[in-house]
Amino acid sequence: MSKMVAPSLLSADFTNLAKDIEMVNRSEADWFHLDIMDGVFVPNISFGIPVVEAVNKLAKKPLDVHLMIVQPERYIEAFKKAGADLLNVHLEASTHLHRTVEEIHKNGMKAGVTLNPHTPVHLLDDIIEMVDLVLIMSVNPGFGGQQFIENTYRKIERLRNMVDKSNSKALIEVDGGVTLDNAANLYRAGADVLVSGSFIFNSSDPLQTIAQLKNHRAK
Ligand code: DX5
Ligand code: ZN
Repeated sequence: MSKMVAPSLLSADFTNLAKDIEMVNRSEADWFHLDIMDGVFVPNISFGIPVVEAVNKLAKKPLDVHLMIVQPERYIEAFKKAGADLLNVHLEASTHLHRTVEEIHKNGMKAGVTLNPHTPVHLLDDIIEMVDLVLIMSVNPGFGGQQFIENTYRKIERLRNMVDKSNSKALIEVDGGVTLDNAANLYRAGADVLVSGSFIFNSSDPLQTIAQLKNHRAK
């Protein structure tokens, strides 16, 4: 399985979003990562459905939509219409996660389940074979540019073990504080997809930074 990179547009230049979308199109990145925050589930508000629709018009790669909202089941169809290919819902925000995953599939999208830093991986035991991806938060969600939480490695290793021992084909994605300092160790622990926002968009050469993240393999 080749390693993947999903730049988070939260750190893009919103006054010239088209330019950053084109940069990601040209880059070695695999997906666009879009962070939807409602000011309730997380203490911040980002952008919503019209922005996802706009990104979808220019994006030439799949849209990985990360819902940091309460009651995500209410918006499954709306995000499908907006162009989402993969819909990530937080386990902590989903009372009926099994039903929500089924609904995401019925709407023709891949289903991801996201875990906050305090949420143990074993809570996925009875759903891991249904999901296409697990997103491990390596910061408390809500803001870009935060510091990576070191305990994440243990969580990834446990999850890698769970996935490999089951019939699950779930990809393991990591989000928050990802840089070239931890990329190799994250891949080595078992991650398949790295989300990175501020490290990419604040760098002097985002194209090169994406290539470096992508090719920074575990030794
Ligand atoms: C945080 C978001 C992340 C964020 C990552 O709540 O889910 O996707 O954009 O940003 P960095 O890479 O700057 O930590
Ligand atoms: Zn995210």
